[in-house]
Formats: sequence, C-alpha cells, structure tokens
Amino acid sequence: MGEQPMKLYLDSADIPAVAPLLHTGLFEGVTTNPLILQRAGVAPAHLPTLVQELIDAGAGSVFVQAVESDTDEIVAEGRRIVALGSNVIVKVPATRQGFAATARLAHDGVPVLVTAVYHVRQAILANSAGAWGIAPYVGRMDDAGRDGLRQVEQMGAVLHGSETRVLAASIRNADVVHELALQHCDAVTMSTAVAEALFIDHLTDRAVAEFTEAARALT
Ligand code: G3P
Repeated sequence: MGEQPMKLYLDSADIPAVAPLLHTGLFEGVTTNPLILQRAGVAPAHLPTLVQELIDAGAGSVFVQAVESDTDEIVAEGRRIVALGSNVIVKVPATRQGFAATARLAHDGVPVLVTAVYHVRQAILANSAGAWGIAPYVGRMDDAGRDGLRQVEQMGAVLHGSETRVLAASIRNADVVHELALQHCDAVTMSTAVAEALFIDHLTDRAVAEFTEAARALT
C-alpha cells in the first residue's frame, strides 16, 4: 500500500467513453483484458491502433493482457505486447505458468501486472516474481463470498515496502473506490460508469446553482 494518493485508472477499451475522462487529467492510464476488448469489438490485429488511440487520448500507460497459457508462450506474447509502446504494461493471470512467465519477463525489465488475483498467497508469489503490480478482483471476491476489501488490505500489508503495487480491479460502484482510498490502496481501475459516478454529488450541484444565481443577481 502506498503513502501516495491512490492512482486512478480506467478499465475500458471504449474510446468515446474513455477519452473525455482521460481529458480531465485525473486518470493515470487504461487497463484492458480480453473481456473488455471483446465488449469494445477490438480484434487482436487492432491492438496497436487501440494502444496509440488511448495514448493519444491522454493515457499515461496502457495495460494489455496476455492470453497464452504455457509459460514460454506467455513470455513470448509478453514481449510482443510490451513492444506495442513505451508505456505498455503486460497483464498476466495469476496461474503457476503466469507467475513463472512474470519472473522471466520481470528479470528482463518487462513490467507485468499479475491479474485475476483472489488471495494474499498470490500477492506473495507476484512479489517474489518481481511483478510491477497485482490486480485483485474486489467485486468478484465479494461475489464468491470472500471479503474483497479485506483481502486487498491484507495483500497491501504483505506488499508494504515492496516494489509491487496493488491495483484493485472489478470495482462495482463508487463507494468501493473511496473505501480503497481509505485503506491506502496504491491504485484502482474502474469502468467508465463508475468513474463518471465519482463526479456526481447533488449537494454540490445545489450549492453551485445557488452561487450561479447569486452571481447573476449581482450583474
Ligand atoms: O479488470 C478486471 C475487471 O474488468 C473485471 O471486472 O466487473 O467483470 O468483475 P468485473
């Protein structure tokens, strides 16, 4: 868990929805996975274009997930992914083969986010592999009866002082975002819908309406 403010990422490949949020300058980058690419209709051949479009829209980093399952194949795919751009980070699932591939890629300086993390044990393995970070699936842990926020807190505790970041994912609503910030999670990635919800507060809207009315009354 970091002492820095929690970094915000967008979990989407939907350029029209992502671009306006990136233009606020409040989001560090964009994470993707095969489900997200499928939803956005992005074929593998289109990945280089997608990465460039996201960078051009203001993404400081773009995460692309390997889909191979064999260690050697994941390593080879990871090298192809990281070659897509200087600010591309490889995502690798938290499987035995994924951890072994992460160790080899990290040894060669390739940043890897170990994803689909559901248990503290996997955080320990990711750190041992030299991973850039881990992506615990908070919402899916809750769906499975595990306490997602508590698991993330424990992952942060075992990673405290290490180079391996906690980038929480599978975020079901804006409340989870502020709970993660309260427990000093390093980073969070969220859908554009959850990101848009962060900006909404009717009390602020009411106060602004009063300010506007008062300002107009003075003119
Ligand atoms: O990054 C992982 C995320 O996309 C999974 O989210 O809502 O399908 O559990 P969800």
